[in-house]
Amino acid sequence: MISILFVCLGNICRSPCLAAVLQDKVDKAGLSNRFHIDSCAVTSYHVGESVDPRMYAVAKEHGIIIEHRAKLFEMSYFSSFDYIFAVDSEVKEILLDMASNPVQKQKVHLATEFSQRFKDKAIPDPYYGKDQRFAYVFEIANDSCESILSICLPYS
Ligand code: 4NP
Repeated sequence: MISILFVCLGNICRSPCLAAVLQDKVDKAGLSNRFHIDSCAVTSYHVGESVDPRMYAVAKEHGIIIEHRAKLFEMSYFSSFDYIFAVDSEVKEILLDMASNPVQKQKVHLATEFSQRFKDKAIPDPYYGKDQRFAYVFEIANDSCESILSICLPYS
């Protein structure tokens, strides 16, 4: 069993999309019992809210239903998760600042780190942008999760 956490600012757009896309790939590969996947926020603005309707709609077009309530990152996640994926370097830095030792810091990665098409790129914050930004978030999420699945599979 491997546990993977995605983290963004509000936990209503990017990280719930990443978690749902990876969960979908894991389910389709018949690996559901080998992965634990979740997402959370580094800000509390939207805690308790469901996913942004624009993000929900794009994922649904791809056959993925995002069911998630926004929650805040907790320090215990540094031990309960194996991989912690941040959507951009801002979120990554916030997590690295909170990490209290090298083992915790080592768990923190960019979500695009293993992606070929979007390697080390930020997943741009779509919240105040046009609807097409949500399609772009989905595209990066899809590519990144493909790579994350192949990287993590041997450890699952
Ligand atoms: P997320 O998007 O971090 O991908 O969930 C955002 C949602 C809300 C805000 C920023 C980003 N906000 O500033 O309220």
